This record gives sequence, structure tokens and C-alpha cells, in this order.
Amino acid sequence: LPTILKEKQNYLSQKQNKKTIVIDFSSPNIAKPFGIGHLRSTLIGNAIANIHEFNGYKVIRMNYLGDWGTPFGKILLGYEKFGDAKLLKKDPVKHLFDLYVKMSKNDKYDSESKEYFKKLEGGDTKLVKQWKLFRELSVKEFKEIYSILGVKFDVYSGESMYNDKLDNVVKELERKKLLIEDSGANIVKLDDLGVALIQKSDGSSLYITRDIATAIDRYKKYKFDKMIYEVGSEQKLHFRQLFKVLELMGYNWSKDCVHIAHGLYLDKDGKKFSSRKGKTVFMKDVLDETIKLAEKSIKGREVSPDTALEIARAAIFYGDLKNHPSKDAIFDIDKFLQFNGDTGPYLLYTYARANSIVSGMRNKKFLVPVLSGIEIEMIKKMGEFPFVVENSMKNINPSLISHYSYELCQIFNEFYHSCKVVGSANESFRIALVKSFMIVLDNSLSLLSINVVKRM
Ligand code: ARG
Repeated sequence: LPTILKEKQNYLSQKQNKKTIVIDFSSPNIAKPFGIGHLRSTLIGNAIANIHEFNGYKVIRMNYLGDWGTPFGKILLGYEKFGDAKLLKKDPVKHLFDLYVKMSKNDKYDSESKEYFKKLEGGDTKLVKQWKLFRELSVKEFKEIYSILGVKFDVYSGESMYNDKLDNVVKELERKKLLIEDSGANIVKLDDLGVALIQKSDGSSLYITRDIATAIDRYKKYKFDKMIYEVGSEQKLHFRQLFKVLELMGYNWSKDCVHIAHGLYLDKDGKKFSSRKGKTVFMKDVLDETIKLAEKSIKGREVSPDTALEIARAAIFYGDLKNHPSKDAIFDIDKFLQFNGDTGPYLLYTYARANSIVSGMRNKKFLVPVLSGIEIEMIKKMGEFPFVVENSMKNINPSLISHYSYELCQIFNEFYHSCKVVGSANESFRIALVKSFMIVLDNSLSLLSINVVKRM
């Protein structure tokens, strides 16, 4: 307990170990709604980043925007034909997405759209300018979501940034005798992983081509010891192919690349959550709705104005992170927001409860008294914290931290109901115990980016 009380937030965090890890996460596509799948990637990737940082890694948090590719032909043409500057200003992503949907419904625009993308790739000044505006407006909107979530990135990169490096990839693959021509297109054969299409017959590049260039560039820049891609499991084959191509190219750091493939969000009925009643779900609406519900849940209590936001964040973060990343997760906001059970608000509530006992109390010297069973359990549990953090890093699995936090709170609540603190014979010791509990819980939750609140 004295160590915990002394080190506080730094309790057991590791010193810099000179190792670097790049984490590619969230990575939404511009001019498209920030999807619910991107939310999973954001929450899980962010926790993985926190956990590595706590263990002494230098972490590069990387947002790799989907800002390139043939859809932009459609969007640019669509905007020229049906765009509305006012709507673009008011609700950019929605407007651009509507245009994209409209253009995709009618194949009579297909060939012209393709030409538009070719022109964009070729550097057409007018189109590039327009595309830049779309990118800027989309990023601005994404940043609003990140600011509510409290998630930050060190680098905003994107597929477009590798447009001029793709020829080099093709040449390098040729030189290394990996590229094979197949009815005008260029491919790499990967045995049991099928073939990776590198260049279409019209010369245009693909998602994987850009990812190859990106990975090589990241290694040059950061000399990472590990690179993690937190992306949905539907891209499993893509990443296996990517890592295989890099390996065949002779990059032995390809073995340090990992894809953490998250499962889907399902709704209460076990159906895919991505669209409700056929409508696209907008992340901003989901967050606003959650904050409103959280406000309702604490109506009439004397708490700081930020409390509702923190409850909403805890509900969403914990609702996701209590699941193993690779498993599907049920997105059920009403359940997430409950104050009882395995939920974020329950953890915050337990912290606030502990705080209400010891707030304003000074640490006093204590002798260790004869301990009750539940006190011993609490101390043992706090001692497990470093092993849990290490395991969750080794297994790249933040849910170990979530389970730990929940169990710690359950034990504390049992203590709370059976042991008097203030005014008891063991007061000084128990104050130290409760304060230590608060520090460990705070540390544990901060690895998930959940902020504790003092009152609730
Ligand atoms: N933008 C992609 C998508 O939304 C995810 C990108 C993941 N990162 C990567 N390096 N491929 O599906």
C-alpha cells in the first residue's frame, strides 16, 4: 500500500524500453460515414496503444485514412453534377456519401467516374483541389468524434500519400521476380493465400499496393519493433497477403507485423449493427444519444457537468472492451449504461463510492492489523495488476484489463458492505486500503481511456 500511495498514477508503469511500436487504428474512409466498425477499431486500438505505452514502448498512433481509390471518381463526378455547396458545408460527410450512393445506383456514370479518378491520380489541378476540400471537411468531422471519445493520434496519414510511391513498388516486385503478368494485370502468386492483385490492367493501383508502399515507408521512418493493424476481421486475407508479399520481398520485419482482427458489433437481436432499419448509422448521432441518456440517468444529482460525458464514454468504451477483440460484441446502449452489472458506469460508481468514504481524509501512518478475508482478497487483487497489464500486452487483449477492473470493483463492494472504515478501530489502515484501491482502479481504467469521476 505505501508503494501504491507514493507512486500513484505511475504505480508499476514501466520506464522507456527504447522499443517502438506503430499502431494503425480507426482509419476511417473520407467522404463516408465513420462506421460502427471504425468505432471498434478506435476503442481497441487506442487501448492497445495505452497498454504498450504503460509498458515502456514508444507508441506511434497512426490514423491511415481511406482517402484514395476509384470511389473518388464517383464522388468528384457526383459533386460536379449534383453537388450543393451549402449542404457540403452543413453536413459534408453525409452529403458526399449521398452523392456516392446516388452515383453507384446508376451504372451509366461508371466510365466517366473512372476517367475522373484517372485524372485525379494524374494530378488534375481542379480535381485535386476539390478532393483536398473533401478530405479536409471529412477529417474535421472525424476529429469531432475523436474529441468526444478523447482519442488522439500522432499521425494522420492516408492511402493518398503513397500515390507517388506505387511505381517503385511495382518495379521492386519486378526486380525481385515476384510480379507475374496475368491478362494485362500484374499479380503476385501466394500459393495457399491465392494471388495478390497489384496493378489492374488499366495501370491503376489497389488497396494492397498502397499498403505495401506504406509498410515499407513506415519501417524506414520508425524502424519499429512491432506494427499492429487494428482492422475488422473481414480484412484477414488482405493482411495475410500483405505480410506474405513483404516477406517474399525480403523484409524480415514482416514477422513483426500483426493484424488484430476485431469481430462485428451485433445489435440486441444478434443482427449486424452496421445499419438500423436499412439506414446508415452515423457515429455522431450514436454518441449524442448516449450522452443524452447518461444525462437522464443522473438527473437531479449534484455532479459536475462533465459527469454525463464520462458516464457515456465509460459505457461505450467498457461495453466494447470487455469483449475479446476477436469476438463479436453486442452493442446495446441501454445495457451499457446500467449502473449495475458488468458495465462502465458500475465501475465509475464504485470509484465514486470509494471516494465518498475517504475524500478529505489525510493519509496516516498505520500498523497492519489482523486482516479480514475480504481485505486480504483486495490486497492480493491489487498485487495482480502488473501481471494483468503484462498479459494483456503479450496477448494484445485489452479485455483482460476490463475483467480485472470489474473483479477489483466487485471485491471492493463486498468490502464496502462488510467493513466500516471511518470510525473503525482500523481506520488508518482502511483509509490507506481504500485510497490504494482508487489508485489501482484509476490506473487500470485509464489503460482503457476511461476517466473516473469523483461524484456520481
Ligand atoms: N480504411 C480502411 C477501412 O475502412 C481501414 C484501413 C486499415 N489500415 C490499413 N493499413 N489498411 O476498411
